Amino acid sequence: MSPPSGSGIGSAGAPRVAALSVRGFTKTYAGGFTAVEQLDLEIPDGAFFGLLGPNGAGKTTLIGAVSNLVRPTAGRIEVFGHDHESREARRLIGLAEQDINLDRFMNVDEVLIYHAGYFGMGRRDARRRANELMDVFDLSAKAKVRPPALSGGMRRRLLFARALMHHPRLLILDEPTAGVDVELRSELWEYTRRLHQVGTTVLLTTHYLEEAEALCEEIALIRGGQIIARDTADGLRAQYDAPDIAGVYLRAMAEAGASERDLAAEVAA
Ligand SMILES: Nc1ncnc2c1ncn2[C@@H]1O[C@H](COP(=O)(O)OP(=O)(O)OP(=O)(O)O)[C@@H](O)[C@H]1O
Ligand SMILES: [Mg+2]
Repeated sequence: MSPPSGSGIGSAGAPRVAALSVRGFTKTYAGGFTAVEQLDLEIPDGAFFGLLGPNGAGKTTLIGAVSNLVRPTAGRIEVFGHDHESREARRLIGLAEQDINLDRFMNVDEVLIYHAGYFGMGRRDARRRANELMDVFDLSAKAKVRPPALSGGMRRRLLFARALMHHPRLLILDEPTAGVDVELRSELWEYTRRLHQVGTTVLLTTHYLEEAEALCEEIALIRGGQIIARDTADGLRAQYDAPDIAGVYLRAMAEAGASERDLAAEVAA
């Protein structure tokens, strides 16, 4: 994979607005189920941030709200100081979704070029960028193939490439390596690390805990729609007296479960 280019970071020394600021985010889905309640989260510009939690914790719900796929029930979300619904915010976010949602009637290169059109990229620039990313993600041989004829790992790579077409400053990766083979996974992580080095803020969810530990400067643990801990991997290991982030995770989730049970017992009493 060739190295990524810079993402246009503001001048050094100026006070930096957070890449992501979430205040009081609540999502109650139709039917009345509240997946996330009063969640606050701030991610600094330039961070490599991991959001870890069990199935159903609310990670995709939060990411969906940031990227305007889920309408918040309450709360305020800003991306580099812009309301998340604004054109500016949308332009700054690149999202590789957990669910693979690719137009089945477009070729791989068209998927990329069409996506760039949303962000006002001219056709020639979009073509150049698509070629570059197909090269990076080893998809050039599949340029004229439609998504249903790609392997699962190839579709993931295409999602990744699509997220990067418009040079986002906040790259959101929701389980980007689910179903991706070991070799490619390490290449994708390496590429993401380099994007981060040139200034891209990364928000990552993954169930590969040891990879999150190696990559993320800061990690938040989420359970039941609430952030239950947030720190560096070192800080979390010390706080939970665990040898690694998998140990931290298991302890934190068990403690949160125990206090939820205590609370339920209190309410019932
Ligand atoms: N459209 C929806 N309608 C109703 N409930 C929903 C909807 N989308 C998600 N939920 C519920 O919200 C909760 C949080 O789901 P979410 O997808 O945010 O979890 P997650 O942390 O991303 O989990 P995973 O690790 O499995 O991807 C779950 O209980 C889920 O069933
Ligand atoms: Mg999810």
